[in-house]
Amino acid sequence: MFDPLPESYIALLPEVESFLSQTVKLYINGQYVDSLSGETFETIDPSTGKRLALVQRGKAQDVDNAVKAARAEFDGGAWWRTMSPTDRSKCLWRLAELIERHGDELAQLDSLDNGKPLKTTRSVDIPLSAEHLYYYAGWPTKIEGSTIPINERGMFNYTLREPVGVVGLIVPWNYPLLMAMWKLAPCLAAGNCVILKPAEQTPLSAVYLARLTQEAGFPPGVFNVVSGYGEEAGAALVAHHGVDKIGFTGSSEVARKIVQGSIGNLKRVSLELGGKAPNIVFADADIDKAIVGSTWAIFGNNGQSCTAGARLYIQRPVFDRVIEGMAAETKKIVVGPGMNVVQPNLGPVVNDEQLTRILGFVTEAESGGARAVTGGGRIGGGLQDGYFVEPTIFVDARDDMRIAREEIFGPVVCAMPFDHVGEIVARANDTDYGLAAGLWTNDLRKAHALARALRAGTIWINTWGNTEASSPFGGFKQSGYGREMGKEAIDLYTEVKSVWVKYE
Ligand code: NAI
Ligand code: MG
Repeated sequence: MFDPLPESYIALLPEVESFLSQTVKLYINGQYVDSLSGETFETIDPSTGKRLALVQRGKAQDVDNAVKAARAEFDGGAWWRTMSPTDRSKCLWRLAELIERHGDELAQLDSLDNGKPLKTTRSVDIPLSAEHLYYYAGWPTKIEGSTIPINERGMFNYTLREPVGVVGLIVPWNYPLLMAMWKLAPCLAAGNCVILKPAEQTPLSAVYLARLTQEAGFPPGVFNVVSGYGEEAGAALVAHHGVDKIGFTGSSEVARKIVQGSIGNLKRVSLELGGKAPNIVFADADIDKAIVGSTWAIFGNNGQSCTAGARLYIQRPVFDRVIEGMAAETKKIVVGPGMNVVQPNLGPVVNDEQLTRILGFVTEAESGGARAVTGGGRIGGGLQDGYFVEPTIFVDARDDMRIAREEIFGPVVCAMPFDHVGEIVARANDTDYGLAAGLWTNDLRKAHALARALRAGTIWINTWGNTEASSPFGGFKQSGYGREMGKEAIDLYTEVKSVWVKYE
């Protein structure tokens, strides 16, 4: 099933080759610059473990320069004070078009950096990034306040919605450009100035994006990129008093550090964190669709999604059938280098650290009595230098096991039977997380009742994984605070001002 694929890689585009051949810079105040320390770090190809490029290692001083540039632009510049909303829309729209035009280059950069198949970045990550910008390009002309009925005579009150100011965006590696765009698009549409800190595992597309913002006509200082490590560049951004807000996607562990780090100037913080989404298959579902849907609910993007359907609850009468079906589907999945000429369905996981973490969960599950019906190990052979994991389905697991409670962020699902609706709601909700949940049923009443009973920010019924720029996304409980996408994201990146006018 996991035959090593031919060694051959898809040829790099000339622009990608030249981009990788030089040190990948920081982007501050409209210029590509080196880090002040002159230090660099490596970004690696997870399919081979080999170095892809050297990247400038931003630290506190570089963050400080980026914040100064953003501050200068925000406090005195042209971006939102004098640029009309229509002109801001045009900038965002042009950037979306440029992303489409350079889609091949961006797709190669994200596939090389993250490992995922080129066909995926080309058909999912990059087009969705452009789509996000197209959606938010429509917003600058629609960010409105309200007029408020006031009791006091002769008093007029209205609200204004204004940008928060200088915003630090810290993003993860699972969808490098797309995760950045989920934040950037609404943040820029609202008129903020930004410092983007990409994940150290996948900084390439963010740095490439900077030149496109230049071409799209963004004034210097509006968009800055400081690559570097979380504890250095990330922590410096979080602690900086010139930063008004941090938008973060990543682990709950780092989120706690961010909340702590933000207390100095009480900056705003919004958090999109992990999950352990329950995926519930009822016996009355269209079972064939549930089988395919549940397989990809977990294995899509190699399980490296905060919404991965990682806790699979199957009603007892169909348990064996669903597991057999999913095992058969899983055996069809081809895993290989994302840039291979023969395109696999899944690539490697992102790095050695994630590989070790995932395999640790697998070993622990096995020693705790769970049984892998398919998968359960690292893929060797021709793929032994990369970080390849077999898509794994566990049965004989219990709700209290670590594989059933903690976010694995890898291609590992833990399947457990259930008997009744009443039982399953309580079990599904018995988690620290609340990002997403889903169910498969043909019973309309059950579907809508569970949509309300499940405690999560997104509910999928007879489908999985859908997101669109227009629909809000975010977590209950420890899956974070704030909602991205839709008009909610405009709220997330604006402040409300109340204005009182005495006219009598
Ligand atoms: P992470 O939370 O450490 O990294 C996410 C971002 O935060 C990166 O840009 C990183 O540089 C930055 N960061 C790290 N430490 C920081 C700090 N002290 N201050 C400011 N920024 C900091 O996630 P990591 O280590 O890459 O993955 C570990 C686990 O986190 C995964 O196994 C997964 O469970 C979870 N995770 C969840 C994601 C999600 O989308 N919900 C995305 C990435 C990871
Ligand atoms: Mg980390």
